[in-house]
Amino acid sequence: MTRTVFVNGDYLPEDEAKVSIFDRAFLMADGVYEVTSVLGGKLIDFAGHSKRLERSLNELDIKKPAVFDDLLEIHRELVRVNEIDDGLVYLQITRGAPGDRDFVFPDPETTEPTVVLFTQNKPGLADSPAAKTGMKIISIEDVRWGRRDIKTVQLLYPSMGKMMAKKAGADDAWMVQDGHVTEGTSNNAYIIKGNTIITRALSNDILHGITRAAVLRFAKEAQMQVEERNFTIDEAKNADEAFITSASAFVMPVIEIDGVSLGDGTPGARTARLREIYLDESRKVAI
Ligand code: PDD
Repeated sequence: MTRTVFVNGDYLPEDEAKVSIFDRAFLMADGVYEVTSVLGGKLIDFAGHSKRLERSLNELDIKKPAVFDDLLEIHRELVRVNEIDDGLVYLQITRGAPGDRDFVFPDPETTEPTVVLFTQNKPGLADSPAAKTGMKIISIEDVRWGRRDIKTVQLLYPSMGKMMAKKAGADDAWMVQDGHVTEGTSNNAYIIKGNTIITRALSNDILHGITRAAVLRFAKEAQMQVEERNFTIDEAKNADEAFITSASAFVMPVIEIDGVSLGDGTPGARTARLREIYLDESRKVAI
């Protein structure tokens, strides 16, 4: 089945979808994105992703596209026509294609934002084997720009980080700035000590994860303590458990950091419980 994608108002077969070579995202990474997961044909936390998208656009002064209020409908239609049971919807909005290359932003009166959405089919997304085996992490320096709270498409360094991890025989990398963990290449990072979850506080240094917000809320409801503060890689190596969160991985256990096993080297019970609660509760309110 040919995938149907959405480009600037049209639903098209993927091989007929086109964007300009002058698009600001292509030339300057001048665009923002969101990834929303789909479980059982329904969108997980669409409202959270939509709110963060609006904030990202505002922070970069990118005009809201005319279809902004139709985005839920467009997500649903793509899920329907592509018969996605479990998977992801990727959405990207850019400052548009002014028809030439210029560092100065184009006039929003004459250059419309580019809007692209496509689905990724991932059968069994919530039953990933990594949830049972756990992930191995390496630490790398965080050399990204200073506005990581905006979900831009500047993903070269995170992509390089994943390759550094792969080369080292690991699954992902946690980035470290001034001795403290910021986040994973495409996820938020947590450690657990006793009954306490420790994760970096929200600031411009990290993406304000939609999954993070939900998981911390559920953790508090499950009587776990939450400390939003900086932690070091050494503290992480001595933690009882560690995990990451993202819209595509949900809650995923970390079992090794820079070659050091955490606890008994298997996914922790508290992490497993948080994953279960997150998936159960999110499915209940999926739309
Ligand atoms: N990444 N931090 C970074 C740097 C991310 O790229 C992501 C998400 C997160 C987690 O945010 P959320 O829980 O809202 O997905 C944290 C997506 C999944 C991606 O780039 O594919």
